[in-house]
Amino acid sequence: MTNPRRKSRFRGAGTTPHGRPCFAAPVGRCTTADPITPGGVRPFVKVCELDELRRHGDRVHVLLGDRHVSLINHRGEVYCLDSLCYHAGGPLGIGDIEDVGGRACLSCPWHLYKVTLESGEKLYGSTRLDEATGKLVPDGVKSAGVRQRTHEVEKRADGWYVRLRLDGPHVESDKYACNDVPGIAKGRKVRDWSTEGPLVRV
Ligand code: FES
Repeated sequence: MTNPRRKSRFRGAGTTPHGRPCFAAPVGRCTTADPITPGGVRPFVKVCELDELRRHGDRVHVLLGDRHVSLINHRGEVYCLDSLCYHAGGPLGIGDIEDVGGRACLSCPWHLYKVTLESGEKLYGSTRLDEATGKLVPDGVKSAGVRQRTHEVEKRADGWYVRLRLDGPHVESDKYACNDVPGIAKGRKVRDWSTEGPLVRV
């Protein structure tokens, strides 16, 4: 029997905590629905100056529209992915970078999950049952699939640009992408899509 006092996590058309339109999303959380370019490709948006990455320790965290994303320079390659961890909304974007099975991963500060910088996959150390001993033994690093949404990065003459990739199926990090948590909450707001429109169209 349902509890009449318990509110549904879902609602119809409404707004996110930042006032953007929100469609059938869990209450207080983001959706991939895009009221600006529905079904289309988002434009690239400048998120910082070229030298800003170095000055800020090779990371810049911004609030792009309603979404917290982190721009991360690792050994000369620059990646962008949702700042908040798909698992429980931790500040993944400020996690240490570790080599896991030869792939560069962010290690989430909250529960130490490993997420690849390049594709947003969760990696884990698997085990198998050893028939001879009847014990579990290590079986290498495996991927649990894409859990964290990644975005496109482009270096231009006047700065770093990001194109949010909100197309395709739901990705687990979508449910926390708009939350504020310590370490990420102060991300500089780049653009309010709903009132100002995109900076650059390509
Ligand atoms: Fe649990 Fe990131 S919040 S591992």
